Amino acid sequence: MKFLLSLKRFNHSVGVSETALRLAERYGHQDPMLEIAALLHDCGRMVPDLEIVEFAQRRHIPISPDIAMAGERLYHSEVGVYVAKTHFLIEHPTVTEAIRYHTTGKPGLSDSSKIIYIADVIEPSRSFKEVNGIREQADKGLCVGLKAACQRKLQFVLQSGDFIHPLSIAFWNSLCS
Ligand SMILES: [Fe+2]
Ligand SMILES: [Fe+2]
Repeated sequence: MKFLLSLKRFNHSVGVSETALRLAERYGHQDPMLEIAALLHDCGRMVPDLEIVEFAQRRHIPISPDIAMAGERLYHSEVGVYVAKTHFLIEHPTVTEAIRYHTTGKPGLSDSSKIIYIADVIEPSRSFKEVNGIREQADKGLCVGLKAACQRKLQFVLQSGDFIHPLSIAFWNSLCS
């Protein structure tokens, strides 16, 4: 990962894995693949945004119409699944699911993917205004932390005026039921 990513993104990945391990301990969740999944969650970022559409096309990486609608920012999930397989020889379902859904979420995620979704939002290098509030919610429990993290992500996409992936909305609704 150090060779593939910028130092900032590498530090983010380490921050996500350390945060994920801490949360897992707090929630009493055990999964031997959690740390690897968290470290690799952004491996698709090895491809610069400006090149990622062509990268996916050339390698026949399946990109859904919804991901294409959302633009380059969501490509790194599917490209990440490809990179984990080709560069790291990892196709373990825990890892694949965490990489594929760490940006959108989806109803029925595994606890490992849920933990990585939260850790991605609150790892130590994150410094947006509401981050400490979400960190406090995450310390209270997995469901509360997940809802706070998802709410923040949806607010961010709405404020940016960008397309919201249908899975993100379905994920939010599943957290409200
Ligand atoms: Fe990401
Ligand atoms: Fe990330």
